[in-house]
Amino acid sequence: MTLEEKLGQLAQYRWSWRDDTVKEQYRQYIREGRVGSFLGIAGVGHTRELQRLAVEESRLKIPLLFAEDVIHGWRTTFPVPLAEAGSWDPAAVERSARIAAIEASAMGLHWTFAPMVDIARDPRWGRIVEGSGEDPYLGSVMAAARVRGFSRGGDLSAPNTLLACAKHFAAYGGAEGGRDYNTVELSERTLREIYLEPFRAAVQAGAGSIMSAFNEVNGVPMTANGWMINDILRGEWGFTGLVVSDYTAVAELQPHGVAANRAEAGVLALAAGVDIDMVSGIYGNDLEELVRQGKLDEALVDQAVRRVLEAKYRLGLFDDPYRYHDAEREKTSLLTPEHLAAAREMARKSIVLLKNEKEILPLSKNLKTLAVIGALADDRRSSLGPWSGAGDTADVVTLLEGIERALPASAKILYAEGYDKKTFTDRGGFARAIQAAKSAEAVILVLGETAGMSGEASNRASLDLPGEQEALARAIHAVGKPLVVVLMNGRPLSINWLVEGSFGAENVPAILETWFLGVQTGPAAADVLFGDYNPGGKLPATFPRSAGQIPIYYNHKNTGRPPIAGEHYTSQYLDLPFTPLYPFGYGLSYTTFEYGAPRLSVPEMEFIDTLTVEVNVTNTGKRPGDEVVQFYIQDEVASVTRPVKQLRGFRRIHLEPGETQTVTFQLTFEDLAFYNQEMQWVVEPGFFKVFLGGNSVEVQEARFEIRSGKL
Ligand code: GLC
Repeated sequence: MTLEEKLGQLAQYRWSWRDDTVKEQYRQYIREGRVGSFLGIAGVGHTRELQRLAVEESRLKIPLLFAEDVIHGWRTTFPVPLAEAGSWDPAAVERSARIAAIEASAMGLHWTFAPMVDIARDPRWGRIVEGSGEDPYLGSVMAAARVRGFSRGGDLSAPNTLLACAKHFAAYGGAEGGRDYNTVELSERTLREIYLEPFRAAVQAGAGSIMSAFNEVNGVPMTANGWMINDILRGEWGFTGLVVSDYTAVAELQPHGVAANRAEAGVLALAAGVDIDMVSGIYGNDLEELVRQGKLDEALVDQAVRRVLEAKYRLGLFDDPYRYHDAEREKTSLLTPEHLAAAREMARKSIVLLKNEKEILPLSKNLKTLAVIGALADDRRSSLGPWSGAGDTADVVTLLEGIERALPASAKILYAEGYDKKTFTDRGGFARAIQAAKSAEAVILVLGETAGMSGEASNRASLDLPGEQEALARAIHAVGKPLVVVLMNGRPLSINWLVEGSFGAENVPAILETWFLGVQTGPAAADVLFGDYNPGGKLPATFPRSAGQIPIYYNHKNTGRPPIAGEHYTSQYLDLPFTPLYPFGYGLSYTTFEYGAPRLSVPEMEFIDTLTVEVNVTNTGKRPGDEVVQFYIQDEVASVTRPVKQLRGFRRIHLEPGETQTVTFQLTFEDLAFYNQEMQWVVEPGFFKVFLGGNSVEVQEARFEIRSGKL
């Protein structure tokens, strides 16, 4: 390979559909071997033509990689990842990723920039919607499930797999102020125990690539962070795959203030272990001279090229460069009945019942007149959520359509937009909405955010319902009919009035969290609203009462003055309760569950032991339903402060009315380990608590002792 051809493999460009000059320039790059991969192009027709250019008209005939953000489904759009995490069902999430891979690979894509595994403890951050919430254990389980789904655990031999890419390495969700791309400052202990865990899980599950993040961590931009990429990711974890920068992030080392020019930025990134430069054009155009002048070690280029070629080899592209460009497969793989059924099932499982006083839900299908209020109910674009890939609004069954299909033709549905679905700011639709509520037997009020209010760079300083939605809720509530609020949103919201009303006044009796559920929004939400499916989802992220409480998360430290209501000199606020509106892991059901006392296999544990924890869970209600049994631990006393709870296991189980199941969890020493003051990974002797329950607050507890620590 010439030096130019080597650097070409490290260059990734975004296909430009608009500009024919750029398209022609990129076709010429392909012929000259100056590009190794593209993002932004899909479809067998287009990708096959560019692949033909590469393998028939270039000197070395090296196949191209085609990449895209296949984040939650592809043409069959599944619920947003935060919603899927709320299912607490890794098998369903794996299936969602598998279907996404089947569809995206059928459209000529080899590589997905997913799973996004960033822990998010700040819901102001727009990208919380794209991950699995606040907890490293839940995040790790979901990361591994998605990697298995996309890439069969790293076995890319089948042409319906995708090279997975865990992103954004690392601590991207720790951005100060919840402002995307902002500075991240955190201890190495928090970095390792919270933010790195899901990446480690993704690597162990076989992720073939990692994307470095835009942000800095403690003064070093990730795109130039050799300690985290070369030493931790590659050195400690043994990752052998490729690392791709985020979009123009190599060039952004200049505004970060660590590179004076493009060439310096390129050298920093390559030396830090970033193999592919996404869209900056620096690797492909600014490094050749430096290598020739001996200012950049060609060995660094060679090792990056090797990783890129190995990825292409593992995808089977050297054997058959057209194996992902099969027009027949493309015709028969998208939006199949099986994929749609899986999307509906995933959506049903993702729904979280937050409130259901007086058992208003499920609603009867015999309602003669039902008001559906809120423009989000018919918002096709928002139903798909951010990062909706090849999702097409024409494929969406909206919430309104789902309700119409679920009810008999004789039912009268009065639909009123209530607010404008762009900004929610005007009250022009209130009168019609109020009239609809007055004329109906019951009201479904759809509130929340548009898809554009979360996702990349879409951060909010407030977690309140945008615009005049609360005013509308108060007005509709005042009509006095049975009222159900359905939330469509990309982040936890401080819906205090809906939940708790004001000063004892009545408030909304039933609230369903549906996030953005994808193409099957309507059928899935209607299944739950009318009782064809009993919701069992649990919150993957804490709902604060106010942005002023952020950061607020369940696995917090106890402090020396833990908050005690009424005790002034303890850690709390004058103007707000210190507790969240809804805690991590919270979710109700149309039935009820009862937990017995946890049973431990041994009262104390030695190094090699495994502690078995059992708990009986009974469905004490009248309906079959799913419960997510959650298992937490607490290290009571250690050489550094430890969280009051840490999730260490969960199981979504199904129970018939009256049925009892014994749920068992295994605890190993590794599960108890942490970084001590010297940053050694240890288990220390002492007492530990275990907690079991249906959320992170209402739990049954037991205790055991570790007689001798080590690791
Ligand atoms: C974006 C995102 C990243 C995405 C990439 C390509 O800026 O940060 O998640 O994969 O660019 O679209």
